[in-house]
Amino acid sequence: MRTQYCGNIRINHVNQTVILCGWVNKIRNFGHFIFVDMRDYTGLIQIIFKLKNKTIFKQALNLKNEFCIQITGIVQKRSEKSININMKTGEIEILAHVLNVLNHSENLPINYTNNNNDDLRLKYRYLDLRNLKILDNLKKRNQITYLIRRFLTKANFLDIETPLLTKSTPEGARDYLVPSRNHHGKFYALPQSPQLFKQILMISGIDKYYQIVKCFRDEDLRSDRQPEFTQIDIEVSFMNAKKLRHLIEKMIIKLWSQIINFNLQKFPVMSFHEAIKKYGSDKPDLRNPIKIIDVYNIFKHEKYIIFFNINIKKNNRIALLCIPQGAYLSRKKINNYVEYVKEYGAKKLFYIKITNDSFNHQNISSSMKNILDAKILQKIIKKSQAKIGDILFLIADEDYIVNKSLHMLRLKLGNDLNITDKNNWKPVWIIDFPMFNRNVHGKLSSVHHPFTAMKNMDIELLNNAPDLAISDSYDLVINGYEIGGGSVRIHNVEIQKKVFNLIGIKKSIQYEKFGFLIEALQYGAPPHAGIALGLDRIVMLLTKSNNIRDVIAFPKTTSATCLMTDSPSIVENSILQELSIQISKKL
Ligand code: AMO
Repeated sequence: MRTQYCGNIRINHVNQTVILCGWVNKIRNFGHFIFVDMRDYTGLIQIIFKLKNKTIFKQALNLKNEFCIQITGIVQKRSEKSININMKTGEIEILAHVLNVLNHSENLPINYTNNNNDDLRLKYRYLDLRNLKILDNLKKRNQITYLIRRFLTKANFLDIETPLLTKSTPEGARDYLVPSRNHHGKFYALPQSPQLFKQILMISGIDKYYQIVKCFRDEDLRSDRQPEFTQIDIEVSFMNAKKLRHLIEKMIIKLWSQIINFNLQKFPVMSFHEAIKKYGSDKPDLRNPIKIIDVYNIFKHEKYIIFFNINIKKNNRIALLCIPQGAYLSRKKINNYVEYVKEYGAKKLFYIKITNDSFNHQNISSSMKNILDAKILQKIIKKSQAKIGDILFLIADEDYIVNKSLHMLRLKLGNDLNITDKNNWKPVWIIDFPMFNRNVHGKLSSVHHPFTAMKNMDIELLNNAPDLAISDSYDLVINGYEIGGGSVRIHNVEIQKKVFNLIGIKKSIQYEKFGFLIEALQYGAPPHAGIALGLDRIVMLLTKSNNIRDVIAFPKTTSATCLMTDSPSIVENSILQELSIQISKKL
């Protein structure tokens, strides 16, 4: 039906006759001629209908936005003054002599070129996808998966599909369950990841596995989280953590270079402990040079502890951020930051402005003036290396509150004051995570998943002080986004059982849930390691999208619904009966 795509026509096609198919994007009627911007999935082109050709002009008068059309015409150069440098096809236009209306269109319920209401955009996602920006994101996504497949295939990885109807794999979220018609009262779980299958493949001797695979997690959603998302899932045998990281690094460097022409440097490696100490988070955005500075030692005297009203029985932290040129922040702006950190649990945010007057503590502008004398001030200035014109923001509280609050404040100030270099890319590997977390009731849980190996496998430590055990795991963070996570796996069945015991999974449950893994580990399981990268998040970064929805063709809302198909939905009673399911009243 067509000889060319709209967005591909250039000056070298002048005088050629072309047939194009697409949609009416915009119409402008100038009396003697009508301009139509015509669109297909490659872009826009200007079509001109002249009054001189009465038949076609009359037809063109009936066109409306979004009509699906076919035109035949001659490519002609635009006059110098009508060249549009913002359009790829801006140097030329098509003088139409045949117009076929292939289909009419009603007025659209959304204006996809504007930011409509999010719910409407999702309800009419097929129209929203006519927005060339989102279409561009999907094209980039395709390019990215193509490059990944090529890279991994060249490195001898096998793309192997694993089941979607399966058993639960603990990745920290709730499962989506699928009832079984043939097995009364039983359910499949949609995989939170193919973790166990890929480990089993290593035991089969597959050596190098990858899969670009859908994963399903019923968890709270955010701008970088969807209930179904895609992982680049990887597992290798006989490879240590360092080598695996190197391989992934090569793949990411290649992606950044080929997709956005940016040369990433070798990725730094930082321990979890260091990340928390310097940035308050295990996902630090290193484009922002500001670090958290500990000042507990300066304020450890009882009078300060009383002033800060902290409970010495808890794990506390007193720390600050030194913000260059922040002394010029208004009182109102500072108050906004005080309110902002409250969202993260910090009851108070203190500030000290470093100005010429600051060296005379009586004139100092600070919300903790009462406890600042010249000596203390000197110590703080020395420790923070603050300069005239800077502002210090200090929080004294339980350590997890200080970490979270200063982490969030650091990000906010980085944006607000243009401290974060938005045009840069800063990847970092975070390693040496603790094996376990302990909850308020003293129960241990795995920081990654329970198949993660311990660094320098020290059984004594695992037995006697599991809180101190460090895992052989790694997360890849780019510009503050967790792009991927993985680890060396436990390949010794006794250690695997030990870890299950430590996190409180009873023996009977161990066999019921993971019996196949426990058994498989006994048949010569090789040492193996792996990682999963979040494809959607990589595409988000490479397309500079703020929301994961902009890189997924049919995303869900934050409450995990699909507004286009109206799912989840009620099913007929007869189907429920077949599945032996009865719906009880909402609790
Ligand atoms: P993890 O749970 O860290 O590891 O997931 C790996 C990566 O997947 C992405 N991701 C998500 N992306 C969008 N929406 C979500 N809800 C979501 N959840 C996770 C993140 C994350 O870094 N089986 C292990 C990997 C392994 O050990 O090999 C796993 O799934 O980018």
